[in-house]
Amino acid sequence: PQNIGIKGIEVYIPGQAVNQAELEKFDGIPQGKYTIGLGQTNMAFVNDREDIYSISLTVVSKLIKHYNIDTEKIGRLEVGTETLLDKSKSVKSVLMQLFGDNNDIEGIDTVNACYGGTSSVINAINWIESSSWDGRDAIVVAGDIAIYDKGAARPTGGVGAIAMLIGPDAPIVFDSIRGSFMEHAYDFYKPDFTSEYPVVDGHFSLSCYVKAVDHCYQNYSKKYTGDKNKTVGLYDHFDYNAFHVPTCKLVAKSYARLLYNDYKSNPEAFEKLIDSETRKAIDELSYDASLTDKLLEKTFVTLAKAETKKRVDPALRVPTNTGNMYTASAWVSLASLLYYVGSKDLQKKRLGVFSYGSGLASTLLSVTVVSDISDITKVLDFDFKLGNGRKIESPEQYVAAIELREKAHLQKDFKPSGSIENLASGTYYLEEIDDKFRRKYSIK
Ligand code: ACO
Repeated sequence: PQNIGIKGIEVYIPGQAVNQAELEKFDGIPQGKYTIGLGQTNMAFVNDREDIYSISLTVVSKLIKHYNIDTEKIGRLEVGTETLLDKSKSVKSVLMQLFGDNNDIEGIDTVNACYGGTSSVINAINWIESSSWDGRDAIVVAGDIAIYDKGAARPTGGVGAIAMLIGPDAPIVFDSIRGSFMEHAYDFYKPDFTSEYPVVDGHFSLSCYVKAVDHCYQNYSKKYTGDKNKTVGLYDHFDYNAFHVPTCKLVAKSYARLLYNDYKSNPEAFEKLIDSETRKAIDELSYDASLTDKLLEKTFVTLAKAETKKRVDPALRVPTNTGNMYTASAWVSLASLLYYVGSKDLQKKRLGVFSYGSGLASTLLSVTVVSDISDITKVLDFDFKLGNGRKIESPEQYVAAIELREKAHLQKDFKPSGSIENLASGTYYLEEIDDKFRRKYSIK
């Protein structure tokens, strides 16, 4: 099979969000911390009417509908999520309800923080390249409900899901070289089954992310250049870059961090760009100190500013308006890039995708757009989904929704009471959980 890649994308964004500037006021936080400091504009949220089964059912049913998919022609279906409702039963098995008589579908759920979707994408590519491939397409689903306990991490929540149709002869083709970095770290994890909230060491998780950016770029580069000390060159190699987006600010810093790796690979090229005093200070940093050093960060963020605006900002338009979607985040960032740059300007362009999951697992991969993608951008329809397609609710309503979720957690014999008013047509929602924890849904 040739040109294995993405043939269709559907993104689910909930019917309500809270404005981050309103949240700053409500939380009594200095103005600008969430909006400028973290780079976030609106945060999507759901009440007790939606869960990982419902949002996955919503996004996959819409993918099937909008791309007219013959469900018999799907041979693999995988889900990446870290929003667990069950320690045994998969989300994938729930989604089998959408595939009619087709029960011959490989794939299951993959869990590791925000990385499960990317692992599922890699599995789908590998299956299509393998001797067991039967000619059918794959669907990869990634989605999460990202919510945090009260405190500093709360404004970095969000909700969303993506479903991608993956197969041969695609307009968005996966390049064969990837670079990964995996390591043991307790930066963000969910050891407490009685709560939906993670345990998070916030600032440590940011430096883990930056370290992963370094190693993935170096590992990706060395497979291209054949030299472990030589990077591919950020601007030469990638036309655009999408990232896992915990906050848009971290992404801007991480893009600049790639440029720092280019500097380390070829310092002479930066002689005229960075004064010698700054270079000396940067060169003297230990690796660990370099991960959080403010002078280094500022130097490269400033150097990369214009290119960040051109090559990364379109990938942040959706994330700044939804917040973190965990497993879906890197892929929705790619979808944002596709939508806001548009088919014409993306022809023959290479797009980097950096995926990070705490704990930790990370990969830098790339795709090349080889033909028209306007059918895909039309379905994405982000202007509507982020505009008239949803409602901006008050911080009070956001907190009330989160409280409903807390009450619903781990319940059986339960009827959710949250409003279904904001749900778009075609959205699945929870009707009840019976005495055996079985969940029943309706469609708006
Ligand atoms: N106006 C403008 N900027 C401000 C203001 C203000 N009034 N106040 C603060 N800021 C800036 C700060 O200077 C800082 O920017 P800088 O880092 O560029 O200097 C930024 O706002 C954030 O402020 P901090 O004090 O660093 O924020 P805090 O410690 O409260 O929390 C954090 C931030 C760590 C991201 C927290 O929200 C968190 O733990 N989030 C969840 C963890 C996470 O997402 N980790 C990322 C990888 S793992 C994953 O994806 C889940």
